[in-house]
Amino acid sequence: MGNVLVLGIETSCDDTGVGLVQDGRVRVNLVASQTLLHAEYGGVVPELASREHAQVLDRLVARALDEAGVRPRDLDLVAATRGPGLVGPLLVGLGYAKGLAWSLERPFLGVHHLEGHLHGALAEAPVEPPFLVLIASGGHTHLYRVEAWGRYELLGATRDDAAGEAFDKVARTLGLGYPGGPEIERLAAAGDPHAVPFSVPMRGRAGYDFSFSGLKTAAVRFRDEGHAPADIAAGFQRVAVASLVGTLERAAQDTGLRRVVVAGGVAANRALRAALAATGLEVHLPPPGLTSDNGAMIALAAARRWARERRADSLTVSAEPYWPLGEAV
Ligand code: KG4
Ligand code: ZN
Repeated sequence: MGNVLVLGIETSCDDTGVGLVQDGRVRVNLVASQTLLHAEYGGVVPELASREHAQVLDRLVARALDEAGVRPRDLDLVAATRGPGLVGPLLVGLGYAKGLAWSLERPFLGVHHLEGHLHGALAEAPVEPPFLVLIASGGHTHLYRVEAWGRYELLGATRDDAAGEAFDKVARTLGLGYPGGPEIERLAAAGDPHAVPFSVPMRGRAGYDFSFSGLKTAAVRFRDEGHAPADIAAGFQRVAVASLVGTLERAAQDTGLRRVVVAGGVAANRALRAALAATGLEVHLPPPGLTSDNGAMIALAAARRWARERRADSLTVSAEPYWPLGEAV
């Protein structure tokens, strides 16, 4: 990738991410979280998210350049998340990146959010296809087979809630804060994972789909029956992890692909990491700071595409709120 200096901007949901990547290495990765802004509404309010992105993005980019000791004209590429995500927030980052690329006369690249997560997981250990990738975040639970860069075959996905969304909803049921993943993980450490009779969703079914909404309903029932919150958290985490890892193992078995990449916010979970380590598969996980939404992962994905294809996107490309990975838009 030479010494290409790439700016990556991520604004698909409620975090403003700005990252600088050079030579395939992360130099700066700044995230301005909007969690507190949305907390009182119990979920992300798209209009507020858009306004906040617009307000902080310019300063965050200036700070990132400053921390790296580079000037805007040192940038070789400017990239932003094009989708999927919330359309208003996407348009803020996309418009900013296009404007900057145009004024600097540099190539602009619009990146798929999940391709970003994949590259975040590979930030420290370059891995070549073929491999399986499981992306588990607040909005996605998708399992792909990657035969070559840019070629994604969807093997399975959630039929209802995403894995991270289930952590968030069960956390809310137990009166914990948002985001729920880290809260559940903390509380689960004090609980008995086998005290509450949760069962692993979709176990024994053919295919590689997931389903997490039943766990949320079960958690409400167990809470109302008087089970201890720590035991509910531990039991829920046990079966959520078993579902993710069990399905991944089965796909590895069936496809013969022993190399797997696990990405997205849920990849921060230590019970998940321990279960993955116990599988004997060749597992690649994002380093700390690159699990949740961030700009560096967008810059990494853009750098890879540029190195491979040397193809910029037109400044007329639109935001794609619903964009299946691997499909042209
Ligand atoms: O990738 P991400 O930052 O944003 C999306 O694109 O959705 O993922 C956020 C999700 C949230 O649902 C959050 O609860 C979950 O990742 N998460 C976790 C953990 N840390 C974050 N889930 C389980 N265990 C964690 N330690
Ligand atoms: Zn994400």
